[in-house]
Amino acid sequence: MILSIESSCDDSSIAITEIATKKLLYHKKISQEAEHSCYGGVVPELASRLHAVALPEILKETKPWFDKLKAVSVTNQPGLGVTLLEGIAMAKTLAAFQEIPLIPVHHLKGHIYSLFIEKETLFPLLVLLISGGHTQVIRVESFETMEILATSMDDSVGESFDKCAKMMGLGYPGGPLIERLALQGDENRFDLPVPLRNSPLIAFSLSGLKNAVRLVVERLGGYSEMTEQDKADLAASFQKAVKLHLLQKSKKIFAKEPIKDFAIVGGASANRYIRTAYEKLCAEFGKTMHVAPLEYCSDNAAMIGRYALDAYEKQAFIDPHEIDIISTKKQQAGMLL
Ligand code: KG4
Ligand code: ZN
Repeated sequence: MILSIESSCDDSSIAITEIATKKLLYHKKISQEAEHSCYGGVVPELASRLHAVALPEILKETKPWFDKLKAVSVTNQPGLGVTLLEGIAMAKTLAAFQEIPLIPVHHLKGHIYSLFIEKETLFPLLVLLISGGHTQVIRVESFETMEILATSMDDSVGESFDKCAKMMGLGYPGGPLIERLALQGDENRFDLPVPLRNSPLIAFSLSGLKNAVRLVVERLGGYSEMTEQDKADLAASFQKAVKLHLLQKSKKIFAKEPIKDFAIVGGASANRYIRTAYEKLCAEFGKTMHVAPLEYCSDNAAMIGRYALDAYEKQAFIDPHEIDIISTKKQQAGMLL
């Protein structure tokens, strides 16, 4: 069995997966959303301290499997440095203590593998990854070969939902709050700009749209002066602009990429409005759409464990003395995802 740890942001999570059957045997996650909500976003130092309490608490429950462990896996990039270190410290200790190998896992590859927790692996695959930290379209040929086809030039989709929710005084995380509020809103009330609409670039950009939302909030006198209907209409108009932006750029990619299977992963892939739009687009282009079960869309150790199963097969281990968080600079300088 493999014990997997995830602590890249504000979710402390541990999973146990069985190597022979690829089954998830145990999975638990403690989210810190309530603790960060009053700040309108994740406070790294607070997140780190909460992981230091939650991870050992969850680990206790996995003791019955300890003597059957063949490896430990842990997210080591990308994420918040101070929170990644909490999971890494625990993983290193376990690997040394149990004398078993350590598997480093790239968080975004974990999101891709969230698709395979309850299903067979499926390659090649075209993936739209929309999370709190990233917005990318990735061509996934295999475990080893993944290529980014488009990426965000600034904010990510999840981040833009979070920031807009904060501007409207809604709380954190903004994605589910905006999606729910938008159901009561008129998506045509505010004419927000669809990012890069007239640009030939196959890339994403959310910061301009975020700024346009800020200007509307200011025009209406700040969020405390906005009515519930104003907020619902703005949430709906914002969500519509995000959808149109994603669809416009995805259409260009779909037209070029013959791969038949398409998937949306990451925290924001839980958004039903965006999912529905992509179902239509896939039907138009003759593609089959895949999503992970809702519980595995946001950060969790089950997806890290699922990736680790394939990594174990390939003996993709790391010396516990060598593992470290990968800094943003190094990622930008040519990391795969
Ligand atoms: O994948 P994830 O758990 O963490 C990262 O790897 O970043 O994604 C979290 C992000 C947050 O920004 C959250 O607001 C967004 O996913 N999110 C949503 C929805 N549910 C979560 N965004 C839009 N609609 C949702 N329903
Ligand atoms: Zn994530």
